[in-house]
Amino acid sequence: MSLIDKRQHAPAAERNREPIVAVLAEHLPASGTVLEIASGTGQHAVFFAERLAPRSWLPSDPNPIARDSISSWRAIAQPPNLYEPLAIDVTQAQWPHLVTTWQQQHTPVSELRAIVNINMIHIAPWIACEGLFAGAAQLLTVGDVLYLYGPFKQGGRHTAPSNAAFDRSLQQQNPAWGIRDLEAVCETAQTSGFVLQATIPMPANNLSVIFHATDGT
Ligand SMILES: C[S@@+](CC[C@H](N)C(=O)[O-])C[C@H]1O[C@@H](n2cnc3c(N)ncnc32)[C@H](O)[C@@H]1O
Repeated sequence: MSLIDKRQHAPAAERNREPIVAVLAEHLPASGTVLEIASGTGQHAVFFAERLAPRSWLPSDPNPIARDSISSWRAIAQPPNLYEPLAIDVTQAQWPHLVTTWQQQHTPVSELRAIVNINMIHIAPWIACEGLFAGAAQLLTVGDVLYLYGPFKQGGRHTAPSNAAFDRSLQQQNPAWGIRDLEAVCETAQTSGFVLQATIPMPANNLSVIFHATDGT
């Protein structure tokens, strides 16, 4: 355990964790390991691991500062079912290999049954969404769950003026970022063999979007 407290705090993660965990509790497989892509501060990882036991939680983030924060939250809270974070960047095609290598090094580990990705695909280039589904297809098998959370456009339109303003600010920060069309995300999911299972309206004009892996993944 590091003696230096490197925990970061994201107010949004505090606000949305309760409604998200309620959806996850209902829609995740009852057991197995859940891989979280883009864990950020790690506040969610600690909270979800505690609330979603006996599932195990495997966090990840490409940003070393985020991984230090996740490790600090983990070291302080010590949930027995939370692993150290992996350095996963879903734009790198070999990312599923990092997970399978980790699984080999951590046997016996409960089977990977779900991938959770919260507030990432709009704060990353579109290839991150494509890479997420393409990699998830290599790791998940029929009936496993891929969960997305965030703001989405539907039918080419923003669902609230605040989302439109957020989209503009994202694109000012980086023209490759932006709120995604739910239909485009579903098309990408389908290309990788996932079917849409549910879309659930969440507070602050966000959606939970649940996909299931099929024979075609
Ligand atoms: C807004 S934060 C969300 C963090 C956390 N999921 C939450 O809701 O608090 C976006 C996260 O996406 C991660 N991210 C950005 N591009 C990524 C990529 N290509 N692969 C994986 N994670 C990525 C960032 O490092 C950052 O931690």
